[in-house]
Amino acid sequence: MTGELSPIDKAKFVAAKRAVEFVEDGMRVGLGTGSTAAWMVRCLGEMVREDGLKIRGVPTSTRTAELAREVGIEVITLDEAGWLDVTIDGADEFDGKLNLIKGGGGALLQEKIVATASDQMIVIADVGKEVETLGAFPLPIEVIPFGWQTTKLLVEELLINMDVLGREVTQRMKGDEPFVTDEGNFILDLHLGRIGNPHQLSMVLNQMPGVVENGLFIDICDIVVLGYGDGRVETR
Ligand code: 5RP
Repeated sequence: MTGELSPIDKAKFVAAKRAVEFVEDGMRVGLGTGSTAAWMVRCLGEMVREDGLKIRGVPTSTRTAELAREVGIEVITLDEAGWLDVTIDGADEFDGKLNLIKGGGGALLQEKIVATASDQMIVIADVGKEVETLGAFPLPIEVIPFGWQTTKLLVEELLINMDVLGREVTQRMKGDEPFVTDEGNFILDLHLGRIGNPHQLSMVLNQMPGVVENGLFIDICDIVVLGYGDGRVETR
Protein backbone atom coordinates (compact mmCIF):
# COMPACT_ATOMS: atom_id res chain seq x y z
CA MET A 1 0.00 0.00 0.00
CA THR A 2 2.86 2.39 0.78
CA GLY A 3 5.85 1.72 -1.49
CA GLU A 4 8.60 4.36 -1.14
CA LEU A 5 7.08 7.33 0.71
CA SER A 6 8.29 10.91 1.01
CA PRO A 7 8.85 12.01 4.65
CA ILE A 8 5.58 13.98 4.67
CA ASP A 9 3.57 11.03 3.36
CA LYS A 10 5.30 8.71 5.79
CA ALA A 11 4.32 11.04 8.66
CA LYS A 12 0.70 11.02 7.48
CA PHE A 13 0.70 7.26 6.97
CA VAL A 14 2.15 6.37 10.38
CA ALA A 15 -0.32 8.69 12.13
CA ALA A 16 -3.20 7.07 10.23
CA LYS A 17 -1.91 3.57 10.93
CA ARG A 18 -1.72 4.26 14.67
CA ALA A 19 -5.15 5.93 14.79
CA VAL A 20 -6.98 2.98 13.22
CA GLU A 21 -5.91 0.91 16.23
CA PHE A 22 -8.72 2.74 18.07
CA VAL A 23 -11.30 1.20 15.72
CA GLU A 24 -13.02 -1.99 16.89
CA ASP A 25 -15.41 -4.49 15.37
CA GLY A 26 -18.96 -3.20 15.01
CA MET A 27 -18.05 0.47 15.28
CA ARG A 28 -19.66 3.24 13.26
CA VAL A 29 -16.75 5.37 12.10
CA GLY A 30 -16.68 8.95 10.80
CA LEU A 31 -14.29 9.11 7.86
CA GLY A 32 -12.53 12.44 7.41
CA THR A 33 -11.39 14.15 4.24
CA GLY A 34 -7.95 15.09 2.92
CA SER A 35 -4.65 13.40 2.14
CA THR A 36 -4.02 12.23 5.72
CA ALA A 37 -7.57 10.96 6.14
CA ALA A 38 -7.20 9.10 2.83
CA TRP A 39 -4.37 7.06 4.39
CA MET A 40 -6.68 6.25 7.28
CA VAL A 41 -9.43 5.09 4.90
CA ARG A 42 -6.93 2.87 3.05
CA CYS A 43 -5.68 1.40 6.36
CA LEU A 44 -9.24 0.66 7.47
CA GLY A 45 -10.00 -0.87 4.09
CA GLU A 46 -7.05 -3.20 4.51
CA MET A 47 -8.32 -4.23 7.95
CA VAL A 48 -11.78 -4.89 6.48
CA ARG A 49 -10.48 -6.95 3.57
CA GLU A 50 -7.66 -8.82 5.28
CA ASP A 51 -8.65 -9.09 8.95
CA GLY A 52 -12.43 -9.25 8.52
CA LEU A 53 -13.00 -6.05 10.53
CA LYS A 54 -16.71 -5.20 10.49
CA ILE A 55 -17.37 -1.48 10.51
CA ARG A 56 -19.71 0.98 8.88
CA GLY A 57 -18.27 4.29 7.73
CA VAL A 58 -19.85 7.73 7.42
CA PRO A 59 -17.79 9.74 4.92
CA THR A 60 -17.43 13.51 5.20
CA SER A 61 -17.22 14.18 1.45
CA THR A 62 -18.00 12.59 -1.89
CA ARG A 63 -14.24 12.07 -2.37
CA THR A 64 -13.99 10.08 0.84
CA ALA A 65 -17.17 8.14 0.05
CA GLU A 66 -15.71 7.05 -3.29
CA LEU A 67 -12.42 5.97 -1.71
CA ALA A 68 -14.16 4.14 1.15
CA ARG A 69 -16.30 2.10 -1.27
CA GLU A 70 -13.26 1.43 -3.44
CA VAL A 71 -11.31 -0.08 -0.51
CA GLY A 72 -14.24 -2.19 0.70
CA ILE A 73 -15.69 -0.19 3.62
CA GLU A 74 -19.49 -0.30 3.98
CA VAL A 75 -20.70 3.28 3.59
CA ILE A 76 -23.79 4.57 5.38
CA THR A 77 -25.23 8.04 5.91
CA LEU A 78 -25.05 9.88 9.22
CA ASP A 79 -28.81 9.55 9.49
CA GLU A 80 -28.54 5.78 9.10
CA ALA A 81 -25.79 5.69 11.73
CA GLY A 82 -27.58 8.02 14.12
CA TRP A 83 -24.44 8.41 16.23
CA LEU A 84 -20.81 7.46 15.74
CA ASP A 85 -18.31 5.70 17.96
CA VAL A 86 -15.31 7.53 16.58
CA THR A 87 -14.35 9.96 13.83
CA ILE A 88 -10.82 10.08 12.45
CA ASP A 89 -9.91 13.13 10.39
CA GLY A 90 -7.00 15.35 9.43
CA ALA A 91 -6.49 19.02 10.30
CA ASP A 92 -4.76 22.05 8.87
CA GLU A 93 -3.59 23.27 12.29
CA PHE A 94 -3.95 22.22 15.92
CA ASP A 95 -2.91 24.02 19.09
CA GLY A 96 -2.03 22.93 22.63
CA LYS A 97 -5.71 22.78 23.62
CA LEU A 98 -6.41 20.52 20.61
CA ASN A 99 -8.44 23.24 18.96
CA LEU A 100 -8.25 22.99 15.18
CA ILE A 101 -8.45 24.79 11.89
CA LYS A 102 -10.02 22.53 9.30
CA GLY A 103 -11.46 22.96 5.84
CA GLY A 104 -8.35 23.17 3.70
CA GLY A 105 -10.05 20.56 1.54
CA GLY A 106 -13.37 22.39 1.64
CA ALA A 107 -15.25 19.70 3.58
CA LEU A 108 -15.48 21.51 6.92
CA LEU A 109 -19.29 21.49 7.18
CA GLN A 110 -19.80 17.75 6.91
CA GLU A 111 -16.60 17.21 8.91
CA LYS A 112 -17.87 19.29 11.80
CA ILE A 113 -21.32 17.69 11.78
CA VAL A 114 -19.81 14.20 11.76
CA ALA A 115 -17.16 14.94 14.41
CA THR A 116 -19.76 16.51 16.69
CA ALA A 117 -21.95 13.41 16.36
CA SER A 118 -19.13 11.13 17.58
CA ASP A 119 -18.19 9.81 21.01
CA GLN A 120 -14.58 10.54 20.13
CA MET A 121 -12.77 12.60 17.51
CA ILE A 122 -9.22 11.60 16.69
CA VAL A 123 -7.12 13.94 14.56
CA ILE A 124 -4.26 12.56 12.52
CA ALA A 125 -1.59 15.00 11.49
CA ASP A 126 1.98 15.38 10.38
CA VAL A 127 4.18 17.37 12.73
CA GLY A 128 3.96 20.51 10.56
CA LYS A 129 0.34 21.01 11.66
CA GLU A 130 1.19 21.76 15.29
CA VAL A 131 1.08 25.49 16.17
CA GLU A 132 1.26 27.60 19.30
CA THR A 133 -1.55 29.91 18.15
CA LEU A 134 -4.05 29.14 15.40
CA GLY A 135 -4.30 31.38 12.36
CA ALA A 136 -1.26 31.12 10.11
CA PHE A 137 -3.36 28.78 7.95
CA PRO A 138 -6.22 30.76 6.38
CA LEU A 139 -9.47 30.05 8.21
CA PRO A 140 -12.12 28.72 5.80
CA ILE A 141 -15.76 29.62 6.23
CA GLU A 142 -18.58 28.11 4.19
CA VAL A 143 -21.08 30.68 2.90
CA ILE A 144 -24.22 30.31 0.84
CA PRO A 145 -23.88 31.62 -2.75
CA PHE A 146 -26.84 34.01 -2.37
CA GLY A 147 -25.40 37.44 -1.55
CA TRP A 148 -21.94 36.01 -0.86
CA GLN A 149 -20.20 39.31 -1.69
CA THR A 150 -22.31 41.09 0.92
CA THR A 151 -21.51 38.32 3.40
CA LYS A 152 -17.82 38.81 2.59
CA LEU A 153 -18.08 42.57 3.29
CA LEU A 154 -19.87 41.92 6.57
CA VAL A 155 -17.23 39.38 7.61
CA GLU A 156 -14.48 41.92 6.82
CA GLU A 157 -16.28 44.46 8.98
CA LEU A 158 -16.74 41.97 11.79
CA LEU A 159 -13.01 41.17 11.78
CA ILE A 160 -12.19 44.79 12.70
CA ASN A 161 -13.33 44.05 16.25
CA MET A 162 -11.65 40.66 16.54
CA ASP A 163 -8.30 39.76 18.08
CA VAL A 164 -6.55 38.88 14.80
CA LEU A 165 -3.48 40.14 12.93
CA GLY A 166 -4.64 40.10 9.30
CA ARG A 167 -8.09 40.78 7.87
CA GLU A 168 -7.94 39.84 4.20
CA VAL A 169 -10.81 37.67 2.97
CA THR A 170 -10.60 35.82 -0.35
CA GLN A 171 -13.02 33.63 -2.21
CA ARG A 172 -11.65 30.13 -2.78
CA MET A 173 -11.36 29.31 -6.48
CA LYS A 174 -10.90 26.13 -8.47
CA GLY A 175 -9.19 27.30 -11.64
CA ASP A 176 -11.28 30.16 -12.98
CA GLU A 177 -14.46 29.08 -11.18
CA PRO A 178 -15.51 29.46 -7.55
CA PHE A 179 -14.82 26.37 -5.46
CA VAL A 180 -18.19 24.77 -4.68
CA THR A 181 -18.61 22.52 -1.64
CA ASP A 182 -20.51 19.22 -1.54
CA GLU A 183 -23.42 21.24 -0.11
CA GLY A 184 -23.37 23.66 -3.07
CA ASN A 185 -21.86 26.54 -1.10
CA PHE A 186 -18.79 28.77 -1.52
CA ILE A 187 -15.71 29.00 0.70
CA LEU A 188 -14.19 32.26 1.92
CA ASP A 189 -10.63 32.03 3.29
CA LEU A 190 -9.84 34.42 6.14
CA HIS A 191 -6.14 35.37 6.21
CA LEU A 192 -5.84 36.20 9.88
CA GLY A 193 -2.21 35.39 10.72
CA ARG A 194 -3.05 34.87 14.37
CA ILE A 195 -6.37 34.15 16.09
CA GLY A 196 -6.25 35.48 19.65
CA ASN A 197 -9.65 34.16 20.73
CA PRO A 198 -10.78 31.24 18.55
CA HIS A 199 -13.85 30.53 20.68
CA GLN A 200 -15.20 34.07 20.34
CA LEU A 201 -14.39 34.26 16.62
CA SER A 202 -16.14 30.97 15.93
CA MET A 203 -19.30 32.09 17.74
CA VAL A 204 -19.41 35.51 16.10
CA LEU A 205 -18.84 34.12 12.59
CA ASN A 206 -21.62 31.58 12.97
CA GLN A 207 -24.09 34.28 14.02
CA MET A 208 -23.79 36.01 10.66
CA PRO A 209 -26.56 35.28 8.14
CA GLY A 210 -25.02 33.70 5.06
CA VAL A 211 -22.27 31.95 7.01
CA VAL A 212 -23.12 28.28 7.23
CA GLU A 213 -20.12 27.12 9.29
CA ASN A 214 -16.52 28.00 10.02
CA GLY A 215 -13.40 25.84 10.14
CA LEU A 216 -12.59 26.37 13.81
CA PHE A 217 -13.13 23.12 15.71
CA ILE A 218 -13.23 24.16 19.37
CA ASP A 219 -13.46 21.51 22.12
CA ILE A 220 -14.33 18.83 19.57
CA CYS A 221 -11.05 16.93 19.16
CA ASP A 222 -10.13 14.43 21.90
CA ILE A 223 -6.80 13.05 20.70
CA VAL A 224 -4.19 14.08 18.14
CA VAL A 225 -2.01 11.34 16.69
CA LEU A 226 1.06 13.05 15.34
CA GLY A 227 3.31 11.44 12.75
CA TYR A 228 6.95 12.28 11.95
CA GLY A 229 8.80 11.80 8.68
CA ASP A 230 11.13 9.26 10.32
CA GLY A 231 8.20 7.04 11.29
CA ARG A 232 7.82 8.12 14.93
CA VAL A 233 4.33 8.68 16.30
CA GLU A 234 3.22 10.70 19.31
CA THR A 235 -0.20 11.05 20.88
CA ARG A 236 -1.42 14.32 22.37
C1 5RP B 1 -10.56 18.98 4.64
C2 5RP B 1 -9.77 19.09 5.88
C3 5RP B 1 -8.51 18.28 5.94
O1 5RP B 1 -8.62 17.39 6.99
C4 5RP B 1 -7.36 19.21 6.16
O2 5RP B 1 -7.36 20.16 5.10
C5 5RP B 1 -6.03 18.46 6.18
O3 5RP B 1 -5.77 17.94 4.92
P1 5RP B 1 -4.46 17.12 4.62
O4 5RP B 1 -4.52 15.88 5.44
O5 5RP B 1 -4.53 16.84 3.13
O6 5RP B 1 -3.28 17.99 4.98
O7 5RP B 1 -10.11 19.76 6.81
O8 5RP B 1 -11.65 19.86 4.65
